[in-house]
Amino acid sequence: MASILGLSALFVCFPFFSSSPFRHSFTLSSCLQSRADIPSATTWDPPSSMTTGLDQVWARTLQENPNWSDDKNWIMDQLIANNGSINYCVRWNTAAHKSTASDRTKIEAGLQRSLKKWFDTLVGFDGFPLTTLAVKVVGYATKDKSMIEGDTSAIDVYTTVDADGVPECDPRCYRAAHLDGDLSGCPSGAAGRYDISLWLDESLEGQNAGYGYNWGEELAPDYVLDNLDTENIHILQHEMGHGFGLLDFYDWVPEGQTSFVMMAGSAMEVTEFDAWMLRDWWRRLKAVRRW
Ligand SMILES: *[C@@H]1O[C@H](CO)[C@@H](O)[C@H](O)[C@H]1NC(C)=O
Ligand SMILES: *[C@@H]1O[C@H](CO)[C@@H](O)[C@H](O)[C@H]1NC(C)=O
Ligand SMILES: [Zn+2]
Repeated sequence: MASILGLSALFVCFPFFSSSPFRHSFTLSSCLQSRADIPSATTWDPPSSMTTGLDQVWARTLQENPNWSDDKNWIMDQLIANNGSINYCVRWNTAAHKSTASDRTKIEAGLQRSLKKWFDTLVGFDGFPLTTLAVKVVGYATKDKSMIEGDTSAIDVYTTVDADGVPECDPRCYRAAHLDGDLSGCPSGAAGRYDISLWLDESLEGQNAGYGYNWGEELAPDYVLDNLDTENIHILQHEMGHGFGLLDFYDWVPEGQTSFVMMAGSAMEVTEFDAWMLRDWWRRLKAVRRW
């Protein structure tokens, strides 16, 4: 996979990338459009230039994920269950970087900022009931507590690992493992609940690549730490899109579209086409869930 982040000499919009299942690599095309503000929408009324593409995307969604609504842990489910509050656990699986208190503040702000790019496209749309998003990092998991420097009084620090030996926050505090809402087994109580994880993994160090689903986003530690002040942390935005159920577009392009964040490498931020794909999920999930 390529990991060149930069401008090439191409003069056409041509995203190019490589992929294995669930892995998302980013080689940026030369035609990265900055998003004009995404117009808000109150009803399903996408621009005519997008309607065919959106129909194609949904047909493909049903093909790739026929049981799309069986999963009760999409970020949309997390938002509705928690009234707009999303708690993160950070899995600090890197020996090369220590976590400082100031970086932790910025990571929380970056998660809030990035998820809000998606969230804001839903505010006011078709009965979406929320207007406020509140992202909080409640825990860090690490192999060695000394990696988490500074004041840790406001977070839980875990040194437990998953079956693969990767640090993870206590599964007793993980919402998806307790969809009945009973988190009474969580040692730090309801405040220790986490909905999703940001996983910084040393295996991705130096790579513009990531993995994402509704369990969270796995990214390169250096990519995240180097981009804490970046307005659009585009790989994070892309992986968050998968947490809402959105697809990859490695082998096809919806009609008329050239640039959107879920087509890896073709856009640096959530675009209007991304917004309409998300709104499509909202209206369909809303109908099935009776929200
Ligand atoms: C979808 O759900 C049905 C019924 O639960 C199951 O039989 C089928 O294997 C599932 N399909 C996929 C692709 O997971
Ligand atoms: C949901 O969140 C909003 C905004 O933060 C708040 O005003 C409201 O009281 C909350 N509702 C419930 C039921 O917690
Ligand atoms: Zn992807």
